[in-house]
Amino acid sequence: MHYFERLKVKDALMSTVGQEDVIILGWVRTKRVSKNIAFIEVNDGSTLSNLQLVMEPDNFPVLDEINTGTSIKVVGDLVSSQGGKQAWEVVVKKLEVVGDCPTDYPLQKKRHSMEFLREIAHLRPRTNTYGVLNRFRSKLAYAVHQFYQERGFYYIHTPIITASDCEGAGEMFRITTFDLDKVPMIDGHVDFSQDFFGQETSLTVSGQLEAELLATAIGDVYTFSPTFRAENSNTSRHVAEFWMIEPEMAFCDLEENMKVIEAFLKYLCQYALDNCQEEMEFFNKWVDQSHTRIQTMENIVKSEFGIVSYTEAIKILEKADRKFDFSVEWGIDLQSEHERYLTEDHFKRPMMVIDYPKDIKAFYMRMNEDGKTVRAVDVLVPQVGEIVGGSQREERLDVLIERMKELNMTTEEIEWYLDIRRWGSVPHSGFGMGFERMLMYMSGISNIRDVIPFPRTPGNAKF
Ligand code: 4AD
Ligand code: MG
Repeated sequence: MHYFERLKVKDALMSTVGQEDVIILGWVRTKRVSKNIAFIEVNDGSTLSNLQLVMEPDNFPVLDEINTGTSIKVVGDLVSSQGGKQAWEVVVKKLEVVGDCPTDYPLQKKRHSMEFLREIAHLRPRTNTYGVLNRFRSKLAYAVHQFYQERGFYYIHTPIITASDCEGAGEMFRITTFDLDKVPMIDGHVDFSQDFFGQETSLTVSGQLEAELLATAIGDVYTFSPTFRAENSNTSRHVAEFWMIEPEMAFCDLEENMKVIEAFLKYLCQYALDNCQEEMEFFNKWVDQSHTRIQTMENIVKSEFGIVSYTEAIKILEKADRKFDFSVEWGIDLQSEHERYLTEDHFKRPMMVIDYPKDIKAFYMRMNEDGKTVRAVDVLVPQVGEIVGGSQREERLDVLIERMKELNMTTEEIEWYLDIRRWGSVPHSGFGMGFERMLMYMSGISNIRDVIPFPRTPGNAKF
């Protein structure tokens, strides 16, 4: 048997002509048997819709062994359907069980809650919702590459194992080969010089610092990689392992960076409207309770993003007719409730907030003339909040060293980063988009644990 000779359900359903003796391989979703006729709905994961198989039950005693979840092999003729619900169906000539499926299979035909399905994340890809989400994720990942490749960006691979904390937030997962019962100590501290890399290392929180090295060598680059954060925040928007897209551009200031961000977001939305109709219709109907997902994506593509400075945003929040849990004053880090007020209630569209206070942003951001704010940009969108964070980078060696001193950072470990400011320094900028946050926004899924197949969150690394 040559498995590749099969016809995928997706291609069967999109067929323009009938075909004889097609081979269909898949899993049974439902079976209906009456005296003269039997129907099986089969799905192979290639698309949302099932393919209907029709047969006379008397000729197929194997029907008794078939349950929801059974994998089967079918040979039959693809013919235009009598029923009308679907264009094509298969009149079965041969039917075999490939792998049986006892009736205690947890995914029987009924609606399961997202919470229950998270507990069986190894099986949930087989449900309609997660099938749609996983196919959507794949298509959008392709769109990410297409956007940058079409614009002459080079795809680069930055290290997963690193000795530097790019964001300076101390949220890193440590890597070691030490026997944890016998960790070598020196002067009361762990002696990392005896560890695998001869120094303390962690999983990266961002590929940005290395992306800057590549951007100042080959121009426009982007990463699309897993990143890791040991943030102990059990929210619906944080996971400990997520995928980030980080473009970095030499000879680029904040304004140009913002243009790329806006073009990128719009491109992904347009791509979904053009190439993921099945998925977008599903989200619109079944996921987004207001049934406005498609309209929202269309609006994004059409309208301009708003731009507001952090200082103005604080003024808006201070005047808001709303009591916030976290009080508002200049200098605070915007909380999720503040971000959502700005984008959902006040501006009612995606917003770019720029020029944040230096004290709430990372060391590498370019200082503004006022000496208090930095050339940062965060993009906030309704329902999700922050979806992109970026900045123009500090390219002036003296200013950067000064800033690092203020933050009590030692320059030794990171001389390599300073070197790009020593030899032919250029203005450069970039940003990071959380891929899962973007998928949440586009699908209307409200919990980040549902847009990544195997979420990693505090207390949970199962599967
Ligand atoms: O704002 P962040 O921390 O920015 C950076 O890492 C920069 N180095 C990016 C750059 O300029 N190259 O993270 C960027 C984005 C956030 O806007 C958010 O979308 C996502 O990454 N993100 C997370 N997504 C899921 N779970 C988490 N714990 C996330 N933390 C950040
Ligand atoms: Mg951020």
